[in-house]
Amino acid sequence: MLDKGASHMEQIDPRALRNVLGCYATGVAIITARTPDGEHVGVTVNSFSSVSLDPPLILFSVARNTNVFRSLKEARNFSVNILAHNQQSLSSMFAKPSTADFKKSVFTEGHNGCALFHDSLAQLECDKEAEVDGGDHLVFLGRVTNCHLRTPTKPLLFFRGAYGTYSRDQLRALPPADSSLSEFSVTGWG
Ligand SMILES: Cc1cc2nc3c(=O)[nH]c(=O)nc-3n(C[C@H](O)[C@H](O)[C@H](O)COP(=O)(O)O)c2cc1C
Repeated sequence: MLDKGASHMEQIDPRALRNVLGCYATGVAIITARTPDGEHVGVTVNSFSSVSLDPPLILFSVARNTNVFRSLKEARNFSVNILAHNQQSLSSMFAKPSTADFKKSVFTEGHNGCALFHDSLAQLECDKEAEVDGGDHLVFLGRVTNCHLRTPTKPLLFFRGAYGTYSRDQLRALPPADSSLSEFSVTGWG
């Protein structure tokens, strides 16, 4: 018989948990925002996920002990840059506190003023919808206000602690790069 009490008492080894979670292959995104002074900030995440099409909602989680955390807490909006296979160095730059330098990257500012990196696969501009406690992370829920399909190329992926890309060469025919939000909703996130 299952001893429910004992199973609740079990300690999960953090290293084992990281190794198991690392088996879930993901894309890689850079979240960008602005500080109250207008300074650009950004952080590399693989916790990005779609949530809802109607209303259009996405989420990502950020560790509370990162430098970028406070800026994201204060920000009313942010953007999500979904990275292409050739943006690994950009991803690495925004994954280390000391190296995130917007002067070393090519970007434009979207409607919400947040950075949209050149060469990204796609981008989402969002208003912050909610924040949800996630232990040592905080989950940010965003409502999509604009979305952009950009470079039709292979994605940057992350699996078991290493970067990779998508090997199937028959990439699905992509919708036109200037798809509006309504066209996007019709085609869906499949
Ligand atoms: C592929 C990849 C995915 C990551 N995903 C996340 C994530 O989802 N949430 C998070 O808080 N940190 C994530 N990190 C770590 C942050 O990028 C890193 O801690 C952050 O850049 C620290 O910088 P800061 O303290 O200056 O903000 C990821 C790193 C990499 C390389």
